[in-house]
Amino acid sequence: MSTQPSQDRILIFDTTLRDGEQSPGATLNVDEKLTIARQLARLGVDIIEAGFPFASAGDFEAVNKIAQAVGTDDGPVICALARATKQDIEAAAKALAPAAKGRIHTFIATSDIHMQHKLRKTRSEVLAIASEMVAYAKSFTDDVEFSPEDAGRSDPDFLYHVLERAIAAGATTVNIPDTVGYLAPQEFGGLIRGIKENVPNIDQAIISVHGHNDLGLAVANFLEAVKNGARQLECTINGIGERAGNAALEELVMALHVRRSYYNPFLGRSPESQAPLTNIDTRQIYKASRLVSNLTGMFVQPNKAIVGANAFSHESGIHQDGVLKNRLTYEIMDAESIGLNDNQIVLGKHSGRNAFRTRLSELGHDLNEQELNRAFLRFKELADKKKSVTDWDIEAIVNDEVQQA
Ligand code: KIV
Ligand code: ZN
Repeated sequence: MSTQPSQDRILIFDTTLRDGEQSPGATLNVDEKLTIARQLARLGVDIIEAGFPFASAGDFEAVNKIAQAVGTDDGPVICALARATKQDIEAAAKALAPAAKGRIHTFIATSDIHMQHKLRKTRSEVLAIASEMVAYAKSFTDDVEFSPEDAGRSDPDFLYHVLERAIAAGATTVNIPDTVGYLAPQEFGGLIRGIKENVPNIDQAIISVHGHNDLGLAVANFLEAVKNGARQLECTINGIGERAGNAALEELVMALHVRRSYYNPFLGRSPESQAPLTNIDTRQIYKASRLVSNLTGMFVQPNKAIVGANAFSHESGIHQDGVLKNRLTYEIMDAESIGLNDNQIVLGKHSGRNAFRTRLSELGHDLNEQELNRAFLRFKELADKKKSVTDWDIEAIVNDEVQQA
């Protein structure tokens, strides 16, 4: 089980099914997690953090089933979270066993406030545990990620020391979490630069970042981290997660896509190069967003960047006039680039029930027979009037016809 660092791509580590599911009220059952994991694989994420196996039997089962069904040879790396304890690491290793490429992600807090009040451990105890538990995880897989929780508020010199020891014990990725979403972009960038400059063996690991959105800065922080050496971004679909959520995958990926010459961190790649900075198929973003919103029941605000209902609509007369003359007047990206109105199967008046049902389930709607019949009738009526029926139309039918029934 191993992951090779990408030479010229930024790795996208999706944690919708782990940190995202920690959003209040966003529990997903095993089948729903599997459906989301399949869409994440279509989206092209490099790593799926599928859950925290020691936390519950349901999480164990979900990680195990995802490892089996989605963690194939040509699929993404499947990752499981474990505190820095033997039982957690053993549960993670067991759940990941069927994956072709499995990663254990182990963590322990390194800020004084967490060590004193939560762990009740000294710095030297934490240092020893980090190194021992990384080595223990390494006895199960080559691919070990280590996170010093609350790195953003940790003493930098202690942090450098912990990271050095974790890498020496076998960590191949070191993830730097801004657990409480406290840092400002230049500080986060400076933290990553400091790690690159002060951790002697840092070249043996990929630097990853993880951050929460308490001050609405998670995405800006990550982009600054990329400029300073981060090569893996931990994020969630629609930015769901603990409290104010995690950095939003769609915002990061589209910022790196639309402004690729500005953010390009790869030496030797010309600023004009059109090569993508991530492996993401951006045309799968909209479907992933709808699926996660529908299955978690977490509403996407209309003005949400990239995937909100208003993200590509123009209300004022001046804007509409400009867009009609030339879209570039008010649009920095095409709606098609995130998969809006870009369906491989175009649904129209000749489409059958099966195609309709398939699209519904891709969007996260699992209707019973009666609901499906009613929705299908409405779809046929609409398809008679419109050349092609969009995902938005389908969502509107479901909301109108089924949820209000
Ligand atoms: O926010 C955090 O610090 C985490 C760690 C487990 C990486 O989610
Ligand atoms: Zn987190």
